[in-house]
Amino acid sequence: MSIISTDLSKAAELLNNEELVAIPTETVYGLAGNIFSEKAVKAIFETKERPFFNPLIVHIPNIDYLETIVDAIPEKAKLLAEAFWPGPITLVLKKKSIIPDLITGGKDTVAVRIPNHPLTLELLNQLDFPLAAPSANPFNRISPTKAEHVESYFKDKIKMVLDGGACKSGIESTIIGFENSEPIIYRLGSTSIEAIEAVVGTIEIKNKKEVAPDAPGMLERHYAPKTKTILTSHLKEAVEANKNLRIGLLTYNDILNDDAIHFKIVLSEGKNLEEAASKLYDALHQLDQQDLDLIIAERLPDYGLGKSINDRLTRATK
Ligand code: TXA
Ligand code: MG
Repeated sequence: MSIISTDLSKAAELLNNEELVAIPTETVYGLAGNIFSEKAVKAIFETKERPFFNPLIVHIPNIDYLETIVDAIPEKAKLLAEAFWPGPITLVLKKKSIIPDLITGGKDTVAVRIPNHPLTLELLNQLDFPLAAPSANPFNRISPTKAEHVESYFKDKIKMVLDGGACKSGIESTIIGFENSEPIIYRLGSTSIEAIEAVVGTIEIKNKKEVAPDAPGMLERHYAPKTKTILTSHLKEAVEANKNLRIGLLTYNDILNDDAIHFKIVLSEGKNLEEAASKLYDALHQLDQQDLDLIIAERLPDYGLGKSINDRLTRATK
């Protein structure tokens, strides 16, 4: 029997009983549990095979709840929350002691956001606790943007995926931390740098493992298909050089035709970066099922969501 369901009251019941439920958000599906239940939070780490030092994002129902869990909110954090929540920005703020250490990997900060999905907002409003929810994929694998992706990863291990359709944004939230009250981007994501800078001015990016020890999730290899993947700005040459292999192609809008190509996905024929982002992970899931020797991915323009997509594709190739 399928674990996929749209039954909101069943999801609430499971979560109230300290079980896990995969939930839809506008970015990717999350593997959710009660932040105050040690049993549920441990199950999240175990199900994902995620190391305990890698902290979880806390999903809250509304801005007012923020004061219950964090201290000393910088002015620019308030501006960002007001501008983008509910939506794909996660703020890393000083935690209050009510937040269990298991959630934060022992750190004194907690990552928090309000997701923008009607079903999950409704669910959060029904519960009397926030939800810890990392992306609902095994550690280092491609994040799920459809209920079916989650089911294929975890069907024997969780009781339910709350089906909210395909995720609209399609890549994870942008994570912002604060140093001396100034915002810093720890992870590129579904909210573009340009949109953030329009609210808080020029912002620094520290999204490499070497420079951002504060975001332990920024491992080099991440979001990875099982199939070997390369990223290039020179598609034709890359195809030519690998003609002896079974090749799959992931392009922005290029409709390159070549007999060597067994399977091809075009992310946005009309060159729309939002559309490309929303289709990216589903494309990687599909490519990974074609029994290919090599996935050749085209580098996207390096602005707006193109920057975030290139970041994910780079990590997929490591
Ligand atoms: O869009 C999203 O953010 C999705 C949906 C489900 O909300 N969630 C998600 O969670 O991507 P996850 O666990 O896959 O990624 C969370 C990232 C990790 O890289 C983690 O290291 C970082 O957030 N993080 C969490 N708490 C942190 C903290 N206190 N300080 C720095 N980084 C933190
Ligand atoms: Mg993840």
